[in-house]
Order: sequence, then structure tokens, then C-alpha cells
Amino acid sequence: MRPMSETMDLARRAVEHYRNRTTDQAPSTYALDVSAYTDPVRYAHEVEKVFKELPLALALSIEVAEPNSYTATEVVGTPVIVTRDAEGQAHAFLNACRHRGAPVCANGRGEARQFSCPYHAWVYDMKGKLVSMYGGKTFGDVDPATLGLKELPCAEKAGLIWVCLTPGRTFDIDAWLGDFAYELETLDLANWYLYEQRDIEGPGWKVAWDGYLEAYHHNTLHAETVGKYTVGNLMLHDTYGPHQRIVFGRKSLKDIAELPEDQWNDPSEHIRLIHSVFPNTSVSGVVGDHCLVSQVFPGPTPDTTLTRQSIMCAKKPETNEEIAKTEGFSQLVLKAVKEEDYDIGFQIQKTLTSKANEAFVFGRNEPALQHYHDHVAKYAGARS
Ligand code: FES
Ligand SMILES: [Fe+2]
Repeated sequence: MRPMSETMDLARRAVEHYRNRTTDQAPSTYALDVSAYTDPVRYAHEVEKVFKELPLALALSIEVAEPNSYTATEVVGTPVIVTRDAEGQAHAFLNACRHRGAPVCANGRGEARQFSCPYHAWVYDMKGKLVSMYGGKTFGDVDPATLGLKELPCAEKAGLIWVCLTPGRTFDIDAWLGDFAYELETLDLANWYLYEQRDIEGPGWKVAWDGYLEAYHHNTLHAETVGKYTVGNLMLHDTYGPHQRIVFGRKSLKDIAELPEDQWNDPSEHIRLIHSVFPNTSVSGVVGDHCLVSQVFPGPTPDTTLTRQSIMCAKKPETNEEIAKTEGFSQLVLKAVKEEDYDIGFQIQKTLTSKANEAFVFGRNEPALQHYHDHVAKYAGARS
């Protein structure tokens, strides 16, 4: 939990902006060549550098809450299994049998003590070790110790399982997160209840992701959904290396802006924190009983993505009222993203190649977009 004094500081900053009709700003506007959104060669290069070489927040710890559980998924074309072994340790592997490459389990979550390959029944344990080979005596002379599932670098921290998709690379999660680790720890992600997960097809990576980084569009595009609750074009912006914390103001800022601070009650009621983990994970809506984690994964071409939404509750909803509230939250964020953000995103996708714009301009009031695209360029080793 974040200390009240820190939340109060954030509420104070938000109220100040509310009173002045201001927002945190970048020093200048920023132009980004539209080829950053469309060029397939650049896309392939950036996906390789940003999504395959850096650690990703690939799974929630609560997706594999129990010992001997797993989640299997495909991430930017790479089949991955994340497991929790009998001792509680998390691991990640490429989901490919070391005999002739069949996936050793179907995508999805579950509990298992071992994976038996559906092709010729080689069996692996949750640590990836090859523990039996059907007809092993007839197979010939191979060393099972060298034929475990190919392990990916993996670390568990702040309720997230971090994985690098390139075998053999290493990463230091503390160095990667720096002070952002504290920010993520305040969310207590390991102790939420996972209500639902779903995958949504979206427009291209950057078109989709840009929408997670500003509140400038809230009162227009989301007038009927999340915009009902947030103040448009008001945002606090703090950065932690490539990662970012964004704070939106709630409509109730209007009320407390008139009151002395000692009458603000719980300051967390008046702001909404979004933690944006580079390059593709957004944790939002953490207040009270619900939380949304969104992971946006680039698809095979620059105009496609898959977004995994995880809907979480403080505890398992049991009464009809709790279930209705959770469903309401789930449907609201589904509608806002699918029917609003991604609907306009698909339309933007069509204008990209029209030559209407040679470059996009990010305003001073869109500092998180500027920060994000700078860091993509930094890790990809290029800047348009
Ligand atoms: S491919 Fe898995 S046992 Fe043959
Ligand atoms: Fe949006």
C-alpha cells in the first residue's frame, strides 16, 4: 500500500492542475514520422529489439498461483510456457518439444505435474527436465540431461513474472525496474483475485499503445464510458527509466478543489493511477475493488496486435451484488477499449498510408507518448 502522504501529494498536484486548467507537460511538441507506424522493416527490427531482447511482464503471478500450475501462450510469435514448480519457483520455457518440436501443452492455464508431448509422449516436469522418453531403450544413445525444455530467462517480482523471449540472454530485474519496483509493489498485484482474462484483436502496436498513454482523448472518445469519471486533458506524469506512472483526475476533483485539504477524506478517491510498464503492460484502475491489467502484443504485421485484458478483484466476488459490480467493471473496460479505443485505432490504421500525414505531432500535454517513443528508439537503436 502506498503511504497516505504520497497519495495526498498526488491529489494536491492534480487539484492544482484542476484549478488552473493545466496538466503536466513535456518541454516541447514532438514529431514522429508516420513510417514509425507503418514501415515493416522497422517494425520487425523494433519488435526484435524491444519485445524479444528486453524483459517483458509476461504473466501475472496469480495466473500460476499454485505450485504445479502453468500458463501457456504465444507472445510475438513465440510459444511460451510459464510454470510454477512444486517448490513455488516460477520458470519460463519455449513451448516446443526437444524431440521434433511439437508444443508440449495447449495454450491456456491449468495445473499439472508434468507435460506429456502429444506427438511421441516425451515427458517433461515443471522445471523443464525431460523425465521420460516413450520407448527410450529403442531410441538410441542420447543424453536426456541435454534435452530439457529450452529455458527462458525469468524472474518474479511485484506480482509479475518477467521473461525475456531470447534463450541465453540474461537480465537483472532490479536494474530494469529501478525505483519503479516500489511503484509496482504498492499495487500488491500478487494478492488480487483473477476474475477473467480475454484477448482482443486491435490495430497496430503503436496506434493501440498510444491510447494507453494520455487522457487528452477521454472526454471526447470515451464520453459515455471511462470519460464519465475522469477529467479530460489532466494528467500527472512521472518517469522511471523507460517506465511511467500516469495519474488521471476524477470528476470529484471539482468538489475537493473548493475545500481545504483536511476535508478531502481519502485522497485516493479523487485520482486514478496508471502504471505503464515498458514496453507493453498497463496496470490501471487500482482503487477500491477492481484492477485492469492490459498487455499489448505486436502481431505478425505492423497493423495487428493482440491485447490480453486481465480483470482482477480485491477478492473473489461471491454475492450477486459483488458479481454484478465486477461484471459492470469488466464490461466497461471491454467497451472502452474494443468499441472506442480500438475502433478509432482501426480507422487510424487506414489513414496511415493515405499520405495525409507525413508525421504525427504529440502535444506538450502528451508527455508519456513522447517518453515512450523516445525509449522505443533508444532500445531499437534508431530514431526517425
Ligand atoms: S515431438 Fe514431442 S515427443 Fe516427438
Ligand atoms: Fe482510451
